[in-house]
Order: sequence, then C-alpha cells, then structure tokens
Amino acid sequence: MTYGTIATWRMAHEGVIKANELLKKQGTAGDAVEALINTVEAYTYYKSVGYGGLPNEQGVVEMDAAFMNGDSFAIGAVAGIQNVKHAVSVARSLSHDHFNSFRVGSGATQYAMQNDFEIVNMLTPRARKIWQNRLKEMREKNLNPYDGHDTVGAITLDLQGSMAAATSTSGLFMKKAGRIGDSPLSGSGFYVDSEVGGAAATGLGEDIMKGCLSYEIVRLMADGKTPQEACDQAVYPFIEKLKKRYGKAGEFSLVAMNHKGEWGVATNVEFTFSVGNEQKASRILMANPGSDQTTIIEPITQAWLDAYEKRIKAPVE
Ligand code: GLY
Repeated sequence: MTYGTIATWRMAHEGVIKANELLKKQGTAGDAVEALINTVEAYTYYKSVGYGGLPNEQGVVEMDAAFMNGDSFAIGAVAGIQNVKHAVSVARSLSHDHFNSFRVGSGATQYAMQNDFEIVNMLTPRARKIWQNRLKEMREKNLNPYDGHDTVGAITLDLQGSMAAATSTSGLFMKKAGRIGDSPLSGSGFYVDSEVGGAAATGLGEDIMKGCLSYEIVRLMADGKTPQEACDQAVYPFIEKLKKRYGKAGEFSLVAMNHKGEWGVATNVEFTFSVGNEQKASRILMANPGSDQTTIIEPITQAWLDAYEKRIKAPVE
C-alpha cells in the first residue's frame, strides 16, 4: 500500500504537502483531502476559492463544493452557499446523510449555521474592490463580464487503500446569481472509486459538465488505462467533439490518480498542479497541451513562481 495526493493549480501546493504529511502518518484519505481544501479556502489571496473568493455580479460570494468517499461512493455537496468559511467541510458533513446530501442556496447556508460551521462575511475588502473595478471596466469598455474560475479539486489515496475526492470554488467571477458550475456535480467536477482511482476538474463548468469528464477518466482507468492515458483519451477527443458540435470549448484541465498512486493530467490551457506520493515528495508541475492529444508536463520554474506570488499579492487600486 502507498499514499498520494494530486490537486489542481499552484494554489493547492501547501494543502498537498499537508495532506501527504497526514497520509504518511496513517491519516485517512477523507481527512487529508478536507485538510488540503480547507488550506486553500482559508488563504485570502486566492481569488477563486473560499475566503477572498470573487463574488457574483451582485457582489455576493456564492460557493460550490463537494466531497466523495471512494470506498462507499458517499457524496455530499453544496452549491450557492454563502457566508461559510469552509464549504467543503459542509459538503463532507452532508455526505454522511443518505437523503438531502446535496443542498443549494439558503438550504445549504442554513444547514451550515445549524451545524456550527464557521460563519463569516466571505467578501473581503480586496475582493470587493476587484468586483467594483470590474463593474467599472465593463461599463467603460463594454467587456465580457466573465473572468477566472480556478477551482481547487483534489484526489487522495491513503495507506489503507481508501481514496477520496473533493472540490471547492467561488465559481465564475461575475456569474449570474444562482449559477452553478461543475464542481459540486458528481461525474463532472469529481469522481472517485477506491478500487480504481479518482479525477477532479477545474475550468469552465458549463463545458466540463457536457462531457462528465471526471467520471469518464475513472471509467477509462477501470478499463486498464494509466491515469495519463485516461486523461488524454477522455479530454482531448472531447474538446474536438465539443468544437465540432457545439462550436467552441472553454478552458479546462483535469487531474487524476489511481489506486496505486500513479497520476495523470490533461488540459487545453497552461495549467499548474501539485502532486506527491510515497515515492516522490510533493511538487508543483506545469502542464500544457502537446501534439497528438498528449500532455506536456514540466517542472515549474522559480521565475514563474516569483511572478505568480507577485501577481496574486499585487495591490488593488
Ligand atoms: N469549475 C468551476 C466552475 O465552473 O464554477
């Protein structure tokens, strides 16, 4: 038995380190994936997840999150939840219920309040300023309102052979009130089966859900594909199909890990992710679409990391 964790974007890296430390000490896949996502949700400078996440067009932060247990297939999810610091913890709590395990809007928020989850105003002064600036830009330059939707999605494998998946996002910046993406939707934003492996997505939810891409990757792994083969074979042909039949495809990226701790990634845009397992320490890597429906994966450079740090912390005027 081995352990391992993979998660979307550079922002997940500190959480991936934490998850793998827990897993190394016999922690469960469920605890590890929740700790990972909580770390991202709590960090103010990440604009698309948790505290500091950007709001909808009305200035309200509405979050989506999900949790899945790969042993039992138990799923809990929330969508459009407000004023809750750790949406993924609410989702995990709901996964223990057979009924009412996916709650939206005020029902989700009420559940969190009644069950003593941390309640805070999620719209930070920085996020409010970014929202106000965007409104002004849209009025002055007639811009497309939508921008940015980097979900944290993660898969963990523990030393007992159990796996878990989880996601959390504030969704598309400037979305319409009540808009929900792929992140809380089983099969689209995430899926995991401990006997096979798991996958999670980030990107334009409206398009990810057209292909049920997380489930498709797990299905291909169950058919004997490696995680990288499964990612490539699920994602790239679907992008072609979407362009041909729908006319366009938004940006999206998927990560996967199997029950042996092997992993894979596919993307149609420059995409960073963090991965680590018993054999190799957690590290940040960069993926890009390659030729012939393959993925190019390279180590991240210090220059990229420095520029990223500077960009996310740049003052907002
Ligand atoms: N993938 C996140 C969203 O579309 O909301």
